[in-house]
Amino acid sequence: MNYNIDFKEIFDHAPVEEPERQYYFMDRTRELVEMKKQYEGYAAHFMVEVMGCQMSAKDGEKLQGILERCGYTMTDNDRDSDVILFSTCTIRENANMKLYGRVGRLKHQYENRPGMIIGITGCMMQEKDEVEGIKKHYPYVKLIFGTHNVYKLAELLYAALSSGKRTIEIIDDTKMIVEDLPSDRKYKFKGSVNISYGCNNFCTYCIVPYVRGREKSRNATDILRECEKLVADGCLEVTLLGQNVNSYGNDIPGSTSFPELLAAVAEIPGMKRVRFMTSNPKDLSDELIQVIKTHPNIARHIHLPMQSGSSAVLKKMNRHYTKESYLELVRKIRTELPDVSLTTDIIVGFPGERDEDFRDTLDVVKEAHFDSAFTFIYSKRTGTPAAKMEQVPEDIVKERFDELLAAVQKSSAENEGRDLHHEVEVLVEEKNQNQDGYLTGRLSNNILVHFKGNEELIGTMQKVRLDESKGFYYFGTLC
Ligand code: 5AD
Ligand code: SF4
Repeated sequence: MNYNIDFKEIFDHAPVEEPERQYYFMDRTRELVEMKKQYEGYAAHFMVEVMGCQMSAKDGEKLQGILERCGYTMTDNDRDSDVILFSTCTIRENANMKLYGRVGRLKHQYENRPGMIIGITGCMMQEKDEVEGIKKHYPYVKLIFGTHNVYKLAELLYAALSSGKRTIEIIDDTKMIVEDLPSDRKYKFKGSVNISYGCNNFCTYCIVPYVRGREKSRNATDILRECEKLVADGCLEVTLLGQNVNSYGNDIPGSTSFPELLAAVAEIPGMKRVRFMTSNPKDLSDELIQVIKTHPNIARHIHLPMQSGSSAVLKKMNRHYTKESYLELVRKIRTELPDVSLTTDIIVGFPGERDEDFRDTLDVVKEAHFDSAFTFIYSKRTGTPAAKMEQVPEDIVKERFDELLAAVQKSSAENEGRDLHHEVEVLVEEKNQNQDGYLTGRLSNNILVHFKGNEELIGTMQKVRLDESKGFYYFGTLC
């Protein structure tokens, strides 16, 4: 329905500056949505589906915050949704396949709900071939935008709603960071804060620098302000997010360093717990270790992706550390921070990986005693240098992957029960899914504990005694 709105005039009068421009479009969208509700029985329900890492999840929270401000209400059922947005991932091929499957299944819903807007954003939309594929094969996808213009959702949605046409905007890279836009947290008691966007490392297997752009650090004052706001809003735990938190500030002359920033965040009055991820081993400093040591509210968990244990493979991966220097760093962390849990990412089957390289990876797993490890089969990403290198045959990769999985399980089993019988502080996160009357809480070192308790404790910090170790989690009792 046309409500006699002069859309051209609305676009012509939009402020040029951000974030004012986006707030203007949120207000205009809200007006339009209200009219549609009144005259068309428009439900204005939305869903945001996240298919990726914590960065993608954080983008999802931003999309959600903007949609709510535009007058939409969240639902968990795609049949009732008027807007469905996907925050996509493209780190490995299977992430892309998942998206195609999901969007394919929505065709029917689209046909039953005229005017429905299916939108795709995130890393996958920064790849030209993927965008072309979506345009060609999924005509009912009405909104396509990338990682650099998530902040523009209101404007793009307004364009799609007002024109009824497919709206596409992809930007290759940007230096701009738009602050102060709405964001809706999934949990009231914990939140995440971007400290930097993009990555400059260009590990040869990785698509991230191409789809998220060059590293851009936010100003420390903006980060601190956001963290303080979260605390004031009842958040007990904040996670600082960056592709490589350790290089935070390198792109801003005279900037605060990551250890300084982390200390400042941990010292915010009322900040109960701070986490951070991810730490590239090549620039994890002694200063950072000392900051963790002197701040008990910094989580006792370091995620330290090793990717491979072979110095030769690490060199080809462009990781800038060796087997020996990685192990040296692990030893240093274990000595200085004995209560820290160490987790990692490992890739199997990187091009040219020889059996002896793989043995080096197994060696490091044995020596580092990771608390847990995410293991991945190398996935060829078009446009990355490794895609042109000689690939390892699939059957060999599969064999190595199974062997690695067994080694990782053995190594993490050695850490099991490390905190058994201790009384620890946990953040109570949710009702236990499998056992009535039980709650689930997270230890500082990221391990979970299940214990009997009242739902009212969700979102609070509690002391729990760890009674029984079940490998990856504990059973405990409230103290
Ligand atoms: N293939 C397999 N795993 C990859 N990762 C990144 N790129 C690839 C790829 N092409 C893994 C790395 C990284 C994690 C987030 O994903 O281990 O740390
Ligand atoms: Fe990818 Fe390497 Fe950057 Fe991590 S540090 S996002 S693996 S390029």
